[in-house]
Amino acid sequence: MVAKLNVNIDHVATIREARKTIEPSIITASVVCEQAGADGITVHIRGDRRHIQDRDISLLRECVTTYLNVEMATTEEMLEIALETMPDAISLVPEKPEEITTEGGLDVIRNEAIVRAMVKKLRDAGIFVSAFVDPSTKQIEAAKNLGCQQVELCTGEYADLTVGAKSAHGEGAMKAAAEIKRIHDAAVHAHGLGMKVAAGHGLTYRNVGALASISEITEFNIGHNIISRSVFTGLYRAVEEMIEKIRLGATAS
Ligand code: PXP
Repeated sequence: MVAKLNVNIDHVATIREARKTIEPSIITASVVCEQAGADGITVHIRGDRRHIQDRDISLLRECVTTYLNVEMATTEEMLEIALETMPDAISLVPEKPEEITTEGGLDVIRNEAIVRAMVKKLRDAGIFVSAFVDPSTKQIEAAKNLGCQQVELCTGEYADLTVGAKSAHGEGAMKAAAEIKRIHDAAVHAHGLGMKVAAGHGLTYRNVGALASISEITEFNIGHNIISRSVFTGLYRAVEEMIEKIRLGATAS
C-alpha cells in the first residue's frame, strides 16, 4: 500500500506573516494541494502564532475537503481551539518557544497526566488523536496506553543524517541505514499494538523513498521541502512530485 501524503502548509502562512498581510492565501494553497492529489492538509498552530493563526484553522475547517490534521502542544488553550474547530485529527507535539521548528518527539511518559486528559477530551469529541513521538518502544507503548490512536514517528534524526555530503558514503550512510531500521522497527511495533503509524519531520524528495518502503507507515506529513520546491515549480507540481517519490519508494520494496 502507498502511504498517504498530508501537506503541511505552515510556511505559506510564514510568508504571509512576514508582511502581516493577506497573501499568499493558505486557503488557495490547501485547494491546490488537494487538486494535486494530497490526501490531507496539516498545519501547526503554535503558542507564539508565528505562522498559522486561529482564524486560519476555522477557515481551513470550512474549506478542506480531504482531511485536516492540526498539530498542537498539550495546553488548555490548544484544547479549546481543537474543540471549537473540530479538525479530523489532532497531532500532539512538544513545543519550546525558542525553537526554530519542533525538536524531537513529545515525551508522553513525562507528560502522562496532561496527555491522558487531553486525549480523552479530544476522543470524546470524536477527534482522531495522534502523538508525535521518537521511534522508541517505550514512547509508543505509553502513547497507546494513554489512548492515542496513532503515533507519528519523528524522522528528524534520519533527516539530519541525509543532508548533503554527510549521507553519501561511509559512516553517514551507515548511520542513516541504522536510523531507517530504528524507524522500521518502531513502525512494526506500533502497528502490532493496533495503532496507525505516520511519519514526518525533515522529509525530502531525496530521503522519503526509503521510508515509503515501510508498509506499516500509512501517512507522511511533509511541509518545508514541498513549499521550498514550490517556489521554483509551483505548488501543484511540487505536491505531485512528492507523491511520485512516495509511490516509487513503496513500489521499490
Ligand atoms: N510532523 C510534525 C509533528 C511536525 O511538527 C512538522 C513540522 O511542523 C512536520 C511533520 C513537517 O516537517 P517538515 O516541515 O520538516 O516537513
